[in-house]
Amino acid sequence: MKVGIIVHSQTGNTYSVASKLQEALTQSGNDVEIKRVSMVGGDRPENKDKIQLENPPEIGGYDALIFGSPVHAFSLAPAMQVYLEQLPSLENKKVALFVTKGLRFEWTGGTRAIGQMKKLSESKGGEIVGTGIIVWNKHKDKKIEEVVKNFAVLF
Ligand SMILES: Cc1cc2nc3c(=O)[nH]c(=O)nc-3n(C[C@H](O)[C@H](O)[C@H](O)COP(=O)(O)O)c2cc1C
Repeated sequence: MKVGIIVHSQTGNTYSVASKLQEALTQSGNDVEIKRVSMVGGDRPENKDKIQLENPPEIGGYDALIFGSPVHAFSLAPAMQVYLEQLPSLENKKVALFVTKGLRFEWTGGTRAIGQMKKLSESKGGEIVGTGIIVWNKHKDKKIEEVVKNFAVLF
């Protein structure tokens, strides 16, 4: 399957998970590309209404998509929110979602951010087949491994 991993990442954590997913999904026989959601003028914490995206990645060529984002202020990072809102149809596409976050518990924004991504993706007709929340602490490698293992068999 042709899989697009589309991530917003400001300090590299989310992108590093995307790279591991790309490796695993390629090994399981998929054709996988990573594309970044970037802001005009450089990625930074910003209010949603001030964000302009730089050449938002197109999704037409993919059979399946993985969207990844950091959690910002107990919510989905605004740049990913703006990106998902402007997407065309996700009909007939499988979609998996993950977030990375710094605070200790999944519920300090992780569950909410995944809920926001799920709602936006489903509103475009996407079928959610997997989700993952990665807390960026000393247990992160184990959690990343778990998410990668789960996602590698989704498509
Ligand atoms: C402006 C800002 C707000 C953040 N808010 C939260 C938060 O509410 N909850 C949380 O767990 N982590 C929060 N974090 C931590 C990031 O989610 C975490 O470091 C993430 O892994 C960064 O991903 P990235 O390196 O891909 O940008 C915040 C970070 C920034 C810069």
